[in-house]
Amino acid sequence: MSGLIPQDFIDDLIARADIVEVVGRRVPLKKAGREFKACCPFHDEKTPSFTVSPGKGFYHCFGCGAHGTAIGFLMEFDHMSFVEAIESLAGSMGVEVPRSESDKPARRYDELFSLMDTVAKHWQSAMKDTPAAVAYLKERGIDGATAKRFGIGYAADGWSNVLDKFGQSPEATERLLATGLIIRKDNGQHYDRFRDRIMFPIRDTRGRTIGFGGRIMGDGEPKYLNSPETVLFHKGRELYGLFEARKALRQIEQLVVVEGYMDVVALARHGIDFAVATLGTATTSEHLNNLFRLTENVHFCFDGDRAGKAAAWRALENALPQIREGRQIRFVFLPDGHDPDSFVNEHGADGFVDALDNGVALSEFLIEELASQVDMETVDGRARLAELARPLVHKIPTGVYRELLIESLAAAVGLTAPKLEKMIAGGAARTRDTTGRFAGADRKRRPPPGTGKPSVVRHAITIILNHPEAGQNLDAARLAGVNRPGADLLRALIETVHCEPNITTAGLLERWRQDEQGRHLGKLAAAVLPLDEEFDPAAELRECLDQLALAGRKERIDFLIEKQRLSGLSDDEKSELRALN
Ligand code: UTP
Ligand code: MN
Repeated sequence: MSGLIPQDFIDDLIARADIVEVVGRRVPLKKAGREFKACCPFHDEKTPSFTVSPGKGFYHCFGCGAHGTAIGFLMEFDHMSFVEAIESLAGSMGVEVPRSESDKPARRYDELFSLMDTVAKHWQSAMKDTPAAVAYLKERGIDGATAKRFGIGYAADGWSNVLDKFGQSPEATERLLATGLIIRKDNGQHYDRFRDRIMFPIRDTRGRTIGFGGRIMGDGEPKYLNSPETVLFHKGRELYGLFEARKALRQIEQLVVVEGYMDVVALARHGIDFAVATLGTATTSEHLNNLFRLTENVHFCFDGDRAGKAAAWRALENALPQIREGRQIRFVFLPDGHDPDSFVNEHGADGFVDALDNGVALSEFLIEELASQVDMETVDGRARLAELARPLVHKIPTGVYRELLIESLAAAVGLTAPKLEKMIAGGAARTRDTTGRFAGADRKRRPPPGTGKPSVVRHAITIILNHPEAGQNLDAARLAGVNRPGADLLRALIETVHCEPNITTAGLLERWRQDEQGRHLGKLAAAVLPLDEEFDPAAELRECLDQLALAGRKERIDFLIEKQRLSGLSDDEKSELRALN
């Protein structure tokens, strides 16, 4: 939705927002030099490592790594959406949020939501008139009240039921397409996506229908057909059943993540109102964010088979960065052949609750799983286990939990905790020295030989983030031939500060918010650069660019010489080589 608000308005808002005031209204801050400090509101700590920098318009916690702009803080602390955070910030500054192209896009969203709602209702009433569909639900143990609560419906057989009823005008047809309810053929004609299926509406936290899952009655492929990704529906973010759980429960003590629509519905039927399902995807960190916003106590309940174990492991990996004191993450594996649906139907709610109580803690699952991959009888095997654990431990924020996990690991491999910790820390140093490691770049690529320090690209990015004004007079085109990880990003940053001379650190971070690389930029923005007068960011940046341009030129020369040797050069290449030399 961010596209609806003009970027220059966001830039300006971020530049003018007083982050100290925004954070300070919610967390007591103490002045410390040019910055402000507090105990981090995002993890448990006794000594303050949470820092707010008014100059950069940016906060950062050296303990847990949380960081962001005023907008990011509102999103994290007050659980606002991006647009809500902008509105709140603008409101507190007394300015109104402009919407590009009048209010058209916003209205369009409303229309799409209301279309989804209408279709959901239509399918719900069609259910009542279709004995076979009612019988199917009955057979699966779902009563009318539960079906109603989840808005379960039936999409009749036929290629154009929805199209005929809701796609009367060209605009209406476009809306059906935009919500994924119909599909366009190559010849321009359309047909219904969902035919002869039991329909599960997927709702957002406000209860608006944003997508559907449709199950075939009986056998057939695919068993479940889901809405595609649309402007309303992002699979990696949504959890099926979350709206219904929040509606049913006054207070959410715990949430259990399961794999399927029917698992959620069957559990609800048995009075277990706190189950949610990912939508045929792995558990993402966005899912986890949403879960931990609501409760400290999250169970993952998967089938006992190999696929279930693999799904649990993915969930574990994504959960590690979100471990905090007070949060409980447990894994429950059901007996082979069972899923939560079949299990609760066989053993009842009490049986399921018992299974939850018997779940294993995250640390236990982690150690057991790694131990199963090595030979624990040998010294080598145990060393290998420590090696396997290392990257995982590094994902956990420092704190009591991490210490405890290291202790358990140490016990498992027969080392003392300090010794193991040292081994693990050794790995950390190596990781940090690895240069130019931006997401998207080849992760296995080693740094070029001879560069033990942070790479030039990384250093340049750090400077430009901390001193955007220093990049104003640089020529991004000089980086044209440079082929290093992060060089494209550096070029884009230089171009941005060139076009937006007043952009701040926070403004740059907001520009990259949607980008995979944005997360890495946050860390670099928090880097502490020398404060002394000698340090001239513009000169330093120019030097970095000189170095990179030179290296780029050398690489190009080497390439051309090698090519000359192997296959000869074109006339253009020959004159290029002469010019370069
Ligand atoms: P399962 O195959 O475990 O099905 O898929 P289930 O939930 O037990 O379904 P029932 O009990 O046979 O009705 C788990 C989840 O994976 C996604 C769906 O979200 C489903 O709930 N899935 C599965 C699909 O998206 N498409 C498929 O074809 C199958
Ligand atoms: Mn099932």
